[in-house]
Order: sequence, then structure tokens, then C-alpha cells
Amino acid sequence: MKSRYDNEMELSFLSKSNNEAFARITVAAFAAQLDPTIEELADIKTAVSEAVTNCIIHGYEDTEGIIKVRATLLDNCLEVEISDNGKGIEDVELARKPLYTTKGNLERSGMGFTIMESFMDEVKIHSVVGIGTKVTMKKKIKKEENKSLNDDEDVLINT
Ligand SMILES: Nc1ncnc2c1ncn2[C@@H]1O[C@H](COP(=O)(O)OP(=O)(O)OP(=O)(O)O)[C@@H](O)[C@H]1O
Ligand SMILES: [Mg+2]
Repeated sequence: MKSRYDNEMELSFLSKSNNEAFARITVAAFAAQLDPTIEELADIKTAVSEAVTNCIIHGYEDTEGIIKVRATLLDNCLEVEISDNGKGIEDVELARKPLYTTKGNLERSGMGFTIMESFMDEVKIHSVVGIGTKVTMKKKIKKEENKSLNDDEDVLINT
């Protein structure tokens, strides 16, 4: 079977906080094929980190479950899907709002979705209470000829 993407990968791992770095570094390493700038890579890592942290903290809360990450590349676009089978979100539009959090007493600032939206080109949230949540994010990586001159440093992915 031929994939309709240029490349694709899937990860699944337990909702342990150590795996947040694992997910963000792995997606960054995969996205490095598109030759992103350090800044583009940092944006991807931050967005993945926010989405995975949400699955751990909100989706599964005090329980443990599986988080899935699926990433695809098509032309110069990265798409990342991050999903859990956790408790789900009652009101997605409300959850997207800056500063909205259901865990205000636990040092959460309610900025995760806002950060994902500002660092990625598109963020879609699909959630069903009691079933789980899937966040799909897209980012276009600028083609080499459109990059500014000072962006051509070596890309560091292991942070
Ligand atoms: N995977 C998820 N499962 C269940 N609820 C979620 C999930 N992701 C987000 N939410 C809900 O959406 C709200 C907003 O998420 P957001 O990431 O914007 O803020 P936060 O996680 O509360 O705070 P911060 O990300 O700044 O630490 C959360 O407080 C939570 O109620
Ligand atoms: Mg969050």
C-alpha cells in the first residue's frame, strides 16, 4: 500500500510525565526532514509539549493511559495528531480561550491551547466526554529560498 503522504510515523506511550520530552524530541527529529529553522523546530516542540502535557494532566488526571502521536509530512507541511482516551472536554470553545483552565489551583495558567495556536498554523480539537481528546496541528515549514539569511545554522533537535 502506498501512503498518500511523503512520510508518516506513529508513537504510543504511557501518560507518564517523562514521556513528554520523548514525544517532543521524536516529533522534532521527524520534522527535521523538512529542514526547518531552529525557530520553527522550537515552535513544533513547544506545541507538542503542551498537547502531550494536557493528555497527561487533564485527560488521564490521576489515572494512567495511552497517548498516541501520529505525524505526517506532505510537501512542506507537518501534521501532528495527539490523542488520549481520557475524560474528554465538555466545552471545546471555552477550553480554547486564553486563561481558561479547570486546574487553576494547580499552577496551570490556561495558556496551552493559545500557545499551540500561536506556534502552529492550524489547531483542531475533537473531544468527546468519557471517550477522549484528539488535537490535530499543522505547520508549514518555509522553503529554503524564503528563509532569511541568519536562519541557516545547524538545527539542534535534542533539547
Ligand atoms: N487532553 C485533554 N483532556 C481533557 N481536558 C483537556 C485536555 N486538554 C485540555 N483540556 C481542558 O482544557 C483546558 C485548557 O487547556 P490549556 O492547555 O489551554 O490550559 P491548562 O492546561 O489548564 O493550563 P496550561 O496549559 O497553561 O498549563 C484545561 O484546563 C482542561 O480543562
Ligand atoms: Mg495545558
